Amino acid sequence: MLGSGFIARFYADTLHAQRRKDQIISVYSRDAANARRFAEDYRLARHDTDMEKTIAAENIDAVIIALPNHLHEEAVLACARLGKAVLCTKPLGRNAAEAKRMLEAVEQAGIFAGYLEDLCYTPKFLKSLSSVKAGALGRVLWTKSREAHPGPHSDWFWDKALSGGGAIIDLGCHCVEIGRNFIGKSVRPVEVMCWADTQVHPIEAEDHAIGLVRYENGAIGQFEVSWTFRGGMDLRDEVMGTEGTIWLNSFLRTGFDMFTTGKGAEYVAEKAESATGWLFPVGDEAHELGYPHMFSDMFDAIEEGRPPMETFYDGYVVNAILDAAFLSAKSKNWEKVILEDWRGDRQTSHEKSHISYNEQYYLIKKEILPNGDEKLILKEKTTGKVVQETKRK
Ligand SMILES: NC(=O)c1ccc[n+]([C@@H]2O[C@H](COP(=O)([O-])OP(=O)(O)OC[C@H]3O[C@@H](n4cnc5c(N)ncnc54)[C@H](O)[C@@H]3O)[C@@H](O)[C@H]2O)c1
Repeated sequence: MLGSGFIARFYADTLHAQRRKDQIISVYSRDAANARRFAEDYRLARHDTDMEKTIAAENIDAVIIALPNHLHEEAVLACARLGKAVLCTKPLGRNAAEAKRMLEAVEQAGIFAGYLEDLCYTPKFLKSLSSVKAGALGRVLWTKSREAHPGPHSDWFWDKALSGGGAIIDLGCHCVEIGRNFIGKSVRPVEVMCWADTQVHPIEAEDHAIGLVRYENGAIGQFEVSWTFRGGMDLRDEVMGTEGTIWLNSFLRTGFDMFTTGKGAEYVAEKAESATGWLFPVGDEAHELGYPHMFSDMFDAIEEGRPPMETFYDGYVVNAILDAAFLSAKSKNWEKVILEDWRGDRQTSHEKSHISYNEQYYLIKKEILPNGDEKLILKEKTTGKVVQETKRK
């Protein structure tokens, strides 16, 4: 485990939970006391303040990168050099150029590389994705993914040079990848329109943004990200297709509501702002956030010699989309997604199939009115004229 902070602990809590078989052997932290504390808390055999030495150790099969964004590249390159399988937290890079260098390094070294995008592994997400892939929603037209909370927990997040940006890079990476999965990873993201602002905090980076990612097949992926939201961590997704809709609420409304006057106040959930009054705790936080399924997929993939569901290539595409979002927020125009390395479909058409009502008409809409009549809105195939027909009850 490289890093001993917030996400390293979530990962360790997940891996060492219940009766899981994958075990952390050692931890690297630049701070010796933190390394020791982490090793004690999770009963690890070793801890060190030397990153290369930790990666190079003989009995290590895989390295988990849980370091701040500006250290991902250095850590990935070290794993490639030392020939160790690598699992890197999100975002892969601070920008697409950085992510591409990491992708190329692991591919040239021939090592396993997984992108730890946990929110694409939550039980709700996995079930939704399987329904979407089975066609339950028809053709996906629009996705919306929202992550908003009162801001991150460490200094480096707030420093644009170290993090690569504010809420867009920190939270947008999740939202964009959620949308990509629903729309289809083989569909090329074409361009992005994004509004971003620094509404509250004294920082250079954006603390609030809304973006639209347009895909080649006509689908649109919306992301809403904020470090200014009050009231906890808001994680919601929506998918709208020609045959159906999905609404997901992954955190503030999981079906667990509790009221307390504050006696016995304890940890409630990530980014919860209060421990009194009406609260929205989360039963098994790691599970709701996707970590167990994510690590199962990663380690199964290593054993089965297949790529994981979330790869470094996915991380690179996400970074390229976010690069376009940053450009658009500045230019106030749609900006092209620059993908020097595109591995998906070469061309995807806008497949619009119209429903034929009879030889003469297309069916636009059918509705039962309050009086029980059925109203049909039709379009004449030859003239294009729109007409309506009412069938009395
Ligand atoms: N849902 C998720 O997947 C999720 C959630 C939170 C964070 N993250 C990601 O995990 C990474 C780490 O975030 P975090 O929340 O754990 O941050 P953190 O600040 O809690 O922990 C970062 C760790 O890196 C160490 N560190 C900081 N600067 C360093 C330096 N210059 N050299 C060596 N070590 C240094 C810190 O001491 C700490 O151990 C980030 O890339 C972040 O985006 C992912």
